[in-house]
Amino acid sequence: MTAVKTSLPRRKFDAVIIGAGGAGMRASLQLANAGLNVAVLSKVFPTRSHTVAAQGGIGASLGNMSEDNWYWHMFDTVKGSDYLGDQDAIEFMCREAPKVVYELEHFGMPFDRNPDGTIYQRPFGGHSSNFGEKPVARACAAADRTGHALLHTLYQRNVAARTQFFVEWMALDIIRDKDGDCVGVVAYEMETGEVMILQAKITVFATGGAGRIWAASTNAFINTGDGMGMAARAGIPLEDMEFWQFHPTGVAGAGVLITEGVRGEGGVLRNKDGERFMERYAPTLKDLAPRDFVSRSMDQEIKEGRGCGPNGDYVLLDLSHIGAETITKRLPSIREIAIKFANVDPIKEPIPVVPTIHYQMGGIPTNFYGQVVVPKDGNPNTIVNGLYAVGECACVSVHGANRLGTNSLLDLVVFGRAAGNHIVEQFSSGKIAKEHKELPADAADRPLARMAKYDNSTSGENTQVVAQAIRDTMQKHCGVFRTSALLSEGVEKVLALAERCKDIHVKDKSKVFNTARVEAMELDNLIETARATITSAQARQESRGAHAHSDFPERNDADWMKHTLWYSEGNRLEYKPVNLKPLTVESFQPKKRTF
Ligand code: FUM
Repeated sequence: MTAVKTSLPRRKFDAVIIGAGGAGMRASLQLANAGLNVAVLSKVFPTRSHTVAAQGGIGASLGNMSEDNWYWHMFDTVKGSDYLGDQDAIEFMCREAPKVVYELEHFGMPFDRNPDGTIYQRPFGGHSSNFGEKPVARACAAADRTGHALLHTLYQRNVAARTQFFVEWMALDIIRDKDGDCVGVVAYEMETGEVMILQAKITVFATGGAGRIWAASTNAFINTGDGMGMAARAGIPLEDMEFWQFHPTGVAGAGVLITEGVRGEGGVLRNKDGERFMERYAPTLKDLAPRDFVSRSMDQEIKEGRGCGPNGDYVLLDLSHIGAETITKRLPSIREIAIKFANVDPIKEPIPVVPTIHYQMGGIPTNFYGQVVVPKDGNPNTIVNGLYAVGECACVSVHGANRLGTNSLLDLVVFGRAAGNHIVEQFSSGKIAKEHKELPADAADRPLARMAKYDNSTSGENTQVVAQAIRDTMQKHCGVFRTSALLSEGVEKVLALAERCKDIHVKDKSKVFNTARVEAMELDNLIETARATITSAQARQESRGAHAHSDFPERNDADWMKHTLWYSEGNRLEYKPVNLKPLTVESFQPKKRTF
């Protein structure tokens, strides 16, 4: 390694947060309010972060529409996770949920209201009362724009708290010192092309998911797995990356999300015969069964020849019976999306939909304070000093093998806040030294070498051609139903693509915008995430939650009740136990999932 590039400009902060979505801004708000010097880096303007696209609601057992309590919410989340979620973290999240929602309300978040002034709640998939007895309305909603309302509320609060935003900045790599502690990040300013070292006592990943490793995705183009890529390159394993959620209702051919809130408001799925087929698969929860269940049922209908359209390759989401008034009041954006992307007005006609990649359940391993944990010296959860991860890029793990709708916004706010509180407590109790730790000599070597690879190339492949090949491969080889043959072939292909990623050429460098460099750097993150996903999926020989393996159709608790840890170096896997012990209540023992 060469000496640290002293010519790089440096700035010092108490904390640097990478990502300005719901998790990042909930954490930064705690820190800024506590008077800490906090910087938030974002590839886009904060209110364009992907949280803005969340539609249907945030889950909390407020009980505004009918009786509810946090323990039922916990049961649903554990069962929804196909028993892979850690029950201590799930208890923590479900107990905290009402508190964080009321806090958002007091911040000024414009929730829809009931006639008595309480927050409006709608039913959502997998949420039930009395341990699975019947659907319950638990999703606290701001029409079908809940993420939009949440993100704008948090942004305004952060501006008031004087959080410093670095807009259109991309973090390239974290800096770990000789003790393995994280001491900051090397980042790139898109407008100027300047690279800078941001020295920080605490670094927080809040970079969101990596849905852009798939061809058909509800995710924003910015979701390129940057946190996972940085963690993997820094020797940190990625947990449970085989578990990816297909949202049942993406607009066929366009991938745009149609909220589960449509079914919460009474919409139903129909096959080509007009049959409400979910009644056969999930007699109790029907169209509001968890997403893994509904997506597989839809796939089955299509495979068995009951799909709709000229190619029989989608099903229909019918909401015409719920009436124009409810649609325009509760689902205005959905109507607009259907008109624009499917050319149908849902007041009169059903929307063509297919299961579409939506969410990664896995990510960077953390405890429920958001501290990144790795196996070391026999302890599977050794803390990496100075490094936190929150939101979709983290695996705490509350979602296990399948996330329930509305638990994503909840996860962002609960764990963003918990990490913020933990960091503040560490500062105030003197556990974090007053001075910054020294930067290692090789602080910027890795990211500068990555940039130089593209800047100095004279030949090679086009970034987007290789990125599209990754997306096509993942889509074909790691879909709703997986097989040993598909996965093995997929691993070979993705490993070959990893080699192609080393040979990227950004042409006519004097003529391209800095965004071409950004895309090339993002490719390094896409490929890390794709390797993690398909390697972990190939190894898991069972079906659990969103990982449906046709050659191993049953869940196998004896051999596979464990979390996967994937390491970039050597493309290697380890496993660690699931925490089945909640904090204060009886554990929910694994059972067959029926709905
Ligand atoms: O269907 C939706 O509105 C998505 C919500 C979620 O992913 O939690």
